[in-house]
Amino acid sequence: MRKLLLTLATALALSASASAQKTTPATDPTWWRHAVVYEIYPRSFGDTNGDGIGDLNGITAHLPYLEKLGIDAIWLAPMYPSPQVDFGYDISNYTAIDPQYGTLANFDHLLAAAKQHHIRIVLDMVMNHTSDKHPWFTESSSSRTNPKSDWYIWNDGIPAPKRAANTPPGPNEHHGPHGWVVPPNNWSSLFQGSAWEWVESRQQFYYHFFYKQQPDLNYRNPAVEKAMFDAVRFWLDRGVSGFRLDAITTLYEDPSLRNEPLTGHLDASGFPESNHTLTSGLPEVHTFLQRLHNLVASYPGQRMLIGEIYTPDTTALRSWYGTADKPELELPMDTLLGFHKEGAGITDSSNPTLTAAHFRKYITEAETELDGHTPLFVFDNHDNPRSWDRFTTPTETFEQKEALAKIIATVLYTTHAASLIYYGAEIGMKTHTPTRREDVRDPIGITGWPKEKGRDGERTPMQWTPGPQAGFSTNPHTWLPIGDDYKTVNVQTESAVPNSLLHWTESLTALRRTNPALHDGGIIMLDNTNPSVLSYVRTAPANAHPILISLNMTSQPQTIHLDLAAAGISVHGLKSLIGPQDLSTFTCKDCPQPPFTTDLTLPPFASFIAEVQ
Ligand code: GLC
Repeated sequence: MRKLLLTLATALALSASASAQKTTPATDPTWWRHAVVYEIYPRSFGDTNGDGIGDLNGITAHLPYLEKLGIDAIWLAPMYPSPQVDFGYDISNYTAIDPQYGTLANFDHLLAAAKQHHIRIVLDMVMNHTSDKHPWFTESSSSRTNPKSDWYIWNDGIPAPKRAANTPPGPNEHHGPHGWVVPPNNWSSLFQGSAWEWVESRQQFYYHFFYKQQPDLNYRNPAVEKAMFDAVRFWLDRGVSGFRLDAITTLYEDPSLRNEPLTGHLDASGFPESNHTLTSGLPEVHTFLQRLHNLVASYPGQRMLIGEIYTPDTTALRSWYGTADKPELELPMDTLLGFHKEGAGITDSSNPTLTAAHFRKYITEAETELDGHTPLFVFDNHDNPRSWDRFTTPTETFEQKEALAKIIATVLYTTHAASLIYYGAEIGMKTHTPTRREDVRDPIGITGWPKEKGRDGERTPMQWTPGPQAGFSTNPHTWLPIGDDYKTVNVQTESAVPNSLLHWTESLTALRRTNPALHDGGIIMLDNTNPSVLSYVRTAPANAHPILISLNMTSQPQTIHLDLAAAGISVHGLKSLIGPQDLSTFTCKDCPQPPFTTDLTLPPFASFIAEVQ
């Protein structure tokens, strides 16, 4: 998906310790400001009916695990009825549950049980498009005169270029009521090929930003917005805490239908990519979000909106929060830390940057340039290779990769940002990219093979145990294969290893919840020009201790000199908070003595988190 993200971000650029007691979310007025949001891909979390596909009861069964992990909310990827062309992102009924995943009663049970575990549910809401099997589309495509005839983006096309007699029609050339026609413009689908598809019954093209089985709704028709808002109310009434808005920037298209500039690249199917400047990030999206925000905010209990937004920089990210009197999203995704390639000015998940300068820059910008809004840091989701692989190289040892994953986790949980974690990241699940085209399930991997192998690799079943099917299912035919490392990388095994990534994550989420500096403190960057080590301190409210974080992002030991006095912080000692990397593994000269400077030698890829005393 790396190329896809890159294209979208370009378009946007051009357009504008672990046993702690948890606060009951309902009593926290701004729960999402501190939230750890855990994305669950329901096909891959837990299978309770033995069909090899995860289900809602499989999530309910694992709620005690999730509570111990310290999450505040589940972002549940789509579980609505769907032909599953895009595994749920092609919805055929917005107010029901796909029988593969269970029933509405199972959903209500999940919601109620999650509440008992102090976990909220945030649903994925796919508004840009429906499935082509949704009754709205069936009706809309049946004729040009039916009541839903303008619920989608229909177009007659333009006359096809003249061709010599007896030569076959060109690609996407069709015979309409007035002769041979081609699509009205050069718009490309993000999922390869033209964004226009011909329908014989209407003798017209419809527009689809994603797969042709995902026709775009026409939000210039108020009836469409009303229908979608009714669906939103249906779930808010049931008690969900908000929505993650899928592909929200692509809701409107420029009505002029002008050609978009081409990027100069061909997609994996060989089609010329257009740059999406007329099909993404239009001003109308912002006004739509203001109306949606009003609706969601009219419900009690701090309901909220997360947005799937990939921005090229912090200024563009800022625009998605809206203004004080016209709010839009509570938490637009901040992917700059996790996906931005230093120097390239673009989002490129193939090669993110793990340097102190990169992290320092984007953490600082999130702190200072969002006008006090809460960033939502995202390193992993169901569309991108897992950070375990993206931030490491194949030659690094497992121990080195695990240390790097701890660095990512430490950044994720120790800044002022809300955190998004994707299932399996907490145990270091890696990307299991298919090696043969016949094994691929994601359609973009099938059509794009071998250039684009699709997103199956980051969607393999959760690894719970070293037993059969990693404890995910009793059925040996799981919908995607179980990762080949499941015997060692799994919840059960890591629970028994004190220094595991799982324990590291649990310790961090607990600390973040209970430690006043991590929960409410400010943040000051230290040692600002150090190219190898990222250091910052979370300042403390009255009667609490500041927290120092130092992360060695290199494979060499690094000695750092931290001038905490210059940051207005006195040091009488440092107490390491998350073991077993306690202070004795570090050299700490002068710690307890004035003039309050601190020299530390950090082992390769070390994460050091200490209370400043
Ligand atoms: C979003 C989803 C992705 C899906 C696409 C189309 O980008 O995250 O998985 O394929 O929208 O709905």
